[in-house]
Amino acid sequence: MNLDELLLPDRVHRRLYTDPAIYDEEMRTLFRRAWVYVGHESEVRNVGDYKRAKIGSEPVILVRGEDEAVRVLVNRCLHRGSLVCREEKGNGKFFRCPYHAWTYRNNGDLMGVPKRSRYPRDFDLGGLGLVNVPRVESYRGLVFACFDDGIEPLVEYLGPVRDYVDATLDFSLSGEIDLSAGVSRHRYPGNWKLQMENGVDGYHTAFVHETYIGIMSRAEEVELKFGSHGEDQGWTETFPRGHAVLARRADPRAIDVLREQFPEYTSALEAKHGSERLLEILAHMNVFVFPNLFLIGHQIRVVQPVSVDETEVMMYPYLLTDAPEALNRKRMAEHEGFYPPTGFGTPDDYEVFSAVTEGLQAMSTPWLLLNRGAHDCQDLGDGVRRGSPTDEIHQRGMYAEYARLVGSDQGGGA
Ligand code: FES
Ligand SMILES: [Fe+2]
Repeated sequence: MNLDELLLPDRVHRRLYTDPAIYDEEMRTLFRRAWVYVGHESEVRNVGDYKRAKIGSEPVILVRGEDEAVRVLVNRCLHRGSLVCREEKGNGKFFRCPYHAWTYRNNGDLMGVPKRSRYPRDFDLGGLGLVNVPRVESYRGLVFACFDDGIEPLVEYLGPVRDYVDATLDFSLSGEIDLSAGVSRHRYPGNWKLQMENGVDGYHTAFVHETYIGIMSRAEEVELKFGSHGEDQGWTETFPRGHAVLARRADPRAIDVLREQFPEYTSALEAKHGSERLLEILAHMNVFVFPNLFLIGHQIRVVQPVSVDETEVMMYPYLLTDAPEALNRKRMAEHEGFYPPTGFGTPDDYEVFSAVTEGLQAMSTPWLLLNRGAHDCQDLGDGVRRGSPTDEIHQRGMYAEYARLVGSDQGGGA
């Protein structure tokens, strides 16, 4: 698709959020050419465990087979198209299609079809297994899949953003996390890219979340937990492949504050990582892995496009494996205060997304500006660039990758 008139280095055309043809093109190209996050290994810990996910619009199943391998199968019966798995998650030896009961092993092979005698003798079940997504790789338990067999290995795709993924997950002393606490799912009436841009947007925080910040300031917790992203308190970075981070430096007292409540855990973390790195681990980071994954605070957030003007967001607050129970409880309470629909933060963001969606109906003004900080960003090498926390440098980076994937006509999907 030719994006020359829709995407400039510092601005985006309204049609990217409103045109169903562009949405279809994104599903056909971007979501099939990128490594897309599909789930966490802790969600399919045992043989036979499965959970449903999507790669763009394509329904898939993340499943651990009898051979212990984690696969991603396309959730579409080879007979006449039904989903073969309708449960969100579960455990089983096979998937039986609800329509005519064709039955598939959890590696995708077709085991059998009922009333086989009415098919010709040479009817071959061998080529009628569920489609296996060709590339599946994981990094620190985060499982990604890609339809493009030729894509670079996942670690290369992640590149330097791995340091921030590591810093986030290293708050777990064992390095492991567990997603068994459940998920909150919500939908907002707007394009998926509004969430993509906003999850690392330090410019809106002080305004959209003013009420929350006011409450937390009065509770005197804002300094250590969550605040407006002042110009000197943090930074944004953009990485190759559209990944991004919005980081807010930890208060220098953060280690001592943690130690007061969890002395042994803090000392163990400090012994493992050193105090300088521990302060980085304690920073407030919003990490974005293009195109659909955020690690924000204590949650894994997945952005799931539904249609050009509807998006589902899934938030999985995670537990730190082997951390004191009180620490996990505290993290859950912090998560609940801001993020779920009952929290203080998320509804404010969705209100604004819906205001943008309505505003974008204005055809007289086609462009959305992303030029903030463009005159003044730092090149850190290896394709990493840094700006002030309220800049739009990382959104520009996302759209550079978007243009690379959507704006070319080779490879990709159907
Ligand atoms: S559609 Fe699945 S068995 Fe017929
Ligand atoms: Fe927000």
